[in-house]
Amino acid sequence: MATLRLGDTAPDFTAVTSQGTLNFYEYLGDSWGILFSHPADFTPVCTTELGAAAKFKDEFDKRNVKMMALSVDGAASHMDWIKDINETQNTEVNFPIVADVERKVSDLYDMIHPNADDTLTVRSVFIIDPDKKIKLTLTYPASTGRNFYELLRVIDSLQLTANHKVATPANWKNGEKVVVSPAIPTEEAKGIFTKGVEEIKPYLRLTPDPTN
Ligand code: BEZ
Repeated sequence: MATLRLGDTAPDFTAVTSQGTLNFYEYLGDSWGILFSHPADFTPVCTTELGAAAKFKDEFDKRNVKMMALSVDGAASHMDWIKDINETQNTEVNFPIVADVERKVSDLYDMIHPNADDTLTVRSVFIIDPDKKIKLTLTYPASTGRNFYELLRVIDSLQLTANHKVATPANWKNGEKVVVSPAIPTEEAKGIFTKGVEEIKPYLRLTPDPTN
């Protein structure tokens, strides 16, 4: 099992899920993808996370992102647990959960960190672009639920910076000013970003979001 790094190709797999047997690449098609693991079914933090993810489906759809969750519990367990998630989180789980009983996908994506827990998956997140390249990895411990607003924010940044020569500053939110790519000299930047370029330092230039 190799460590997966940014820019690597996300490994493909076929797995049993709560929505039947799915091939990951076929499921993603031309979409962006979020593959995220959680430690176990019928646990409190995981229940809130999957509920939060389900409630964000419209936002992910708008951004052409498909989600797939994973834990090492079986499909029957996932199906029972989904009923609880829907009931307690007031939503409908609307994405597949991999039943990785044999830990094949967990191993492929290095989602089991033995010094944290030698059997259960940690809270890993992989954001994958339409070319199947890994664009972001996050790893949270079992005791800390993830922030799905942050995942949306990162998707917005990744999609913006994939198409424009900009980067997004600390705590940036969609629509706010962005940073001009350091590779572009200021005079050239003024020709590209016609809404204006504010030079704070020669290496720190801001411009309004070019897509707004
Ligand atoms: C939880 O999802 O609540 C959880 C799972 C494993 C360990 C601790 C908490």
